[in-house]
Amino acid sequence: MTVRLGDVAPDFTADTTEGPISFHQWLGDSWGILFSHPKDFTPVCTTELGAFAKRKAEFDARNTKLIGVSVDDVASHNSWKSDIAETQGTALNFPIIGDESRTVATLYDMIHPNASDTLTVRSVFIIGPDKKVKLTLTYPASTGRNIDEILRVLDSLQLVDRFPVATPADWKQGDDVIIANSVSDEDAAVRFPQGFRKLKDYLRLTPQPTK
Ligand code: BEZ
Repeated sequence: MTVRLGDVAPDFTADTTEGPISFHQWLGDSWGILFSHPKDFTPVCTTELGAFAKRKAEFDARNTKLIGVSVDDVASHNSWKSDIAETQGTALNFPIIGDESRTVATLYDMIHPNASDTLTVRSVFIIGPDKKVKLTLTYPASTGRNIDEILRVLDSLQLVDRFPVATPADWKQGDDVIIANSVSDEDAAVRFPQGFRKLKDYLRLTPQPTK
């Protein structure tokens, strides 16, 4: 099944390294990041899990829960955890789903047969508190993910959820944002009291409203 932006994230029950979960219930009112790993005891995955764990506080600050998944079982994930702690200098602090039945991998289309018939690619799904999919990313097995980029998109998504804005190329926290074209100049003057710069009718920039 292909999961597209705006779809309700498929719900499932699964066993994880922190016990059984029902996915939507586990998400609760939080944002969520579901990311897949090709396989346990692989080098790139080990570094990624360490990188996510080190920066979990930044996800917590954004009311966002992390959860990994791979096609190995929970017993295997649990034995891998000590390698992650030893080599990455941080304990795993979020659950990893045991998906030996490939239920989650299939629901989220994480197995790409042109890459591998059995292993998941590196998928990332950002899911909003409304349980809808806000971002999908697909990386090949050989490229580790960039945590800064995932946080950056999360910041953009959470901002546009609150204000009628969009974020430009390479935007990061504190940079100017683009006023949505649905907002007239008159409304923009009221909604964005810090003012705006009109480069074109369709391109108006204003300071980030939450700063
Ligand atoms: C890795 O995580 O290191 C990896 C997994 C599958 C294929 C290649 C690399």
